[in-house]
Amino acid sequence: MSKRTVVAMPGDGIGKIVLPEAIKVLNAVGFEAEYVHGDIGWDFWCNEANALPDRTIRLLEIHKIGLFGAITSKPKARTEAELAPALQGKGHQYFSPIVTMRQHFDLDICIRPCRSFPGNPLNFIRRKANGFEEPKVDVVIFRQNTEGLYCGVEWTNPPPEVRKALETHKKMKSFAKVPSADLAVSLRIFTRPACERIARAAFDHARRFGYKSVTVCEKPNVIRETSGMMEAEARKVAKEYPGIALWSNNIDAQMMWLTKNPEDYGVILAGNMFGDIASDGFAGLVGGLGFACSANVGREVAVFEPTHGSAPKYEQLSPSIVNPLAMILSACMMLDHLGETGRSKRINDAVARVIAEGKTRTYDMLRLTGGPDVFKHGAATTQQMTDAVITAL
Ligand code: NAI
Ligand code: MG
Repeated sequence: MSKRTVVAMPGDGIGKIVLPEAIKVLNAVGFEAEYVHGDIGWDFWCNEANALPDRTIRLLEIHKIGLFGAITSKPKARTEAELAPALQGKGHQYFSPIVTMRQHFDLDICIRPCRSFPGNPLNFIRRKANGFEEPKVDVVIFRQNTEGLYCGVEWTNPPPEVRKALETHKKMKSFAKVPSADLAVSLRIFTRPACERIARAAFDHARRFGYKSVTVCEKPNVIRETSGMMEAEARKVAKEYPGIALWSNNIDAQMMWLTKNPEDYGVILAGNMFGDIASDGFAGLVGGLGFACSANVGREVAVFEPTHGSAPKYEQLSPSIVNPLAMILSACMMLDHLGETGRSKRINDAVARVIAEGKTRTYDMLRLTGGPDVFKHGAATTQQMTDAVITAL
């Protein structure tokens, strides 16, 4: 195996804690790689007015594979206030660096598996006439990652030419009396090639891993153009995959069904925002943010990250309390992407064993409120969880 170079971008807060833990596990499983550090996050906004510096983009261009922890974003007023004085008042605009990265490299396919590990006390359970049952959840969300409501084309107080263009649509009549200053517009743009690509990725995954269905989660009855395009592309692609059922559920109905019958679903296909929502919904059934891993895959570059944020309130706790499994499972997705499926499976099996044994549980797995006291109540530290996984390897 040739030695890989991976761009390691810890980012902010607990990103700096969980990323090194994942690298320990990758080393323990014998994955030979060199890790180069990539700057990203709030400090670079404050000091350079750019949360994703060009030098980090360059590293990703060269090495193609990234592991990312998490970043901190702050409300609009703070973004200007925390800029270094020399950079203030120059019209710098903050934009989420992870969203920028997805768009810059066209990381259009976001994959978010939500699988229940037997023995995880956070797994979804269902009340029956007598007692409870714990259905096995095994869902993979395919979310279009670059377009839709997160495309960034938006205005408060749209300029006159934009307003005029919007008013060519007859539905704008309802807003005729609203002054532009009181109008906020965020565009939801879908393109046919991107819809087709995410639909095909979803069906390919279903075929490769034996899922019986792909469910489109959009709202084509109301958002007729964009959701309609996603559904139409899914129908077209589905014809090439006989044997895999295509279902279509409105996103709101899906959120209800997933809390009733999550075991009925396999692959979920959605646009950017609804995919974001569905993936958090399913993640909540299998342990929540401490377990939610993801991949952002483009034609050339791929970046792997836990879906959780930087949880700044826990950054300073020593020893650390946060669950490293979401980051470790994201590293497994990187191994799968690189064809290192054997090593990925070994890590997954080790994680499964640690969870099944139930001796090592971080505070979230014990449903404790986070804080320095959690160890008194039996919680493991971040490092103890990593060590348990490495021992199980
Ligand atoms: P968050 O995901 O950082 O934390 C939410 C809660 O989830 C925390 O209070 C903590 O209890 C729990 N949590 C998160 N990760 C955990 C882990 N590994 N183990 C155990 N518990 C964990 O989201 P929040 O608090 O809304 O945002 C904090 C910052 O993170 C914000 O600045 C936000 O903009 C940013 N953020 C960044 C994301 C990214 O980098 N992809 C995603 C979401 C939020
Ligand atoms: Mg999210």
